[in-house]
Amino acid sequence: MRIRPSNRAGWDLTPNAFSAACQRRIREGQQLLDLVQSNPTRIGLDTLTPVMLDALRHPASTRYEPNPLGIPCAREAVASWYARRGLAVNPDRLMLTASSSEAYGTLLKLLCDPGDSILVPAPSYPLFDQLARLEGVTVKRYPLMMEDGWRVCEAMVQQVVDSRTRAIFAVSPNNPTGSYLHSSELRSIERVAREHNLAVVCDEVFAEYVWKEDTDRVVCAALEADVPTFSLGGLSKSACLPQMKLGWIVMGEHVDQDTIHRLEMIADTYLSVSTPIQHAAGAFLDGATLARDMLAQRIQENLAVLEHSIRATPVSVLPIDGGWYACLRVPSVMSDEQWAELLVLEDGVVVHPGSFFGFPIPGILVIGLIAATNVFREGIQRLVARGEKVIA
Ligand SMILES: Cc1ncc(COP(=O)(O)O)c(C=O)c1O
Repeated sequence: MRIRPSNRAGWDLTPNAFSAACQRRIREGQQLLDLVQSNPTRIGLDTLTPVMLDALRHPASTRYEPNPLGIPCAREAVASWYARRGLAVNPDRLMLTASSSEAYGTLLKLLCDPGDSILVPAPSYPLFDQLARLEGVTVKRYPLMMEDGWRVCEAMVQQVVDSRTRAIFAVSPNNPTGSYLHSSELRSIERVAREHNLAVVCDEVFAEYVWKEDTDRVVCAALEADVPTFSLGGLSKSACLPQMKLGWIVMGEHVDQDTIHRLEMIADTYLSVSTPIQHAAGAFLDGATLARDMLAQRIQENLAVLEHSIRATPVSVLPIDGGWYACLRVPSVMSDEQWAELLVLEDGVVVHPGSFFGFPIPGILVIGLIAATNVFREGIQRLVARGEKVIA
């Protein structure tokens, strides 16, 4: 007897041509150069210090005293970490989660019934579809304006709202464009949210990875917005420690107490954040700056390699303001998927097709910027050589 999956788990499990090509190469024993590596524990940087590991042995962790929003000392540690960056987050307006992905699931449960919709930016984080589907929610996309550096356009957001829309999501800095929200864009989102009674959710997991000074940048939307807004963060990117499974939601001052109680009820159903990680949160966040600095340096080194390697070649890079990714433009003589497949099969180089992220134009390949620099250099050189061959 075979179990019949629910619609929400009823994915087509057949691998697409690109993943089939990767699997084939791996089966054949080829060492692939992974240019989309985004796991900071696999890039040769040691961000986990003995102090952090010791903190996991805190005596208080021998007891189980669950608190749905998170143990107060852990919420205070997260609030102090924001305070060190000049942001006044009230610990009572923080909810801890096991990851930002879990935070998405929690907020979708809070805000949406099955059949409702959320608005998400395009291009952006591909996991939106899966996260929403698992809650029975539909995703509608508002295009970011490429010619303005991937800005939010109010009319475009307005255009996709329908009677089932419950929330507007933003990602700042965005994965993969690296663009971030400016005050005027947050104002646009607020106007649409107010008119249609929608919540706002802003994924800020890459907030410490911005490469230029900009006083007009929105760093924590929940602290600035004048509509109910939730900002998401976590150790996964801020301390380069995805394995520690600690994320959080900042609830802005327009999120009312009734809503906070409902979030508490959802969290109380699962109580998914482990006690040791909560008692160690302060130590992890104290070490986050060092980890972030090491990763930022790696990104700058790889960016320098990239810029040098593509000079006077058919490959170019779109402007990057932040984040861990770069979007490359390659000759659009074939689809992005065909490019990605060709690079795996002929050159042993793994990149992501832009179409995975919903780019409005062909000829975009997405790469990560955190891989070990020797791997990154070799991968980019092979990619550029392929680009030259393709147009020869
Ligand atoms: C924009 C964005 N948000 C969230 C996540 C996931 O973070 P977490 O590990 O906290 O679930 C990622 C992971 O790459 C991401 O790119």
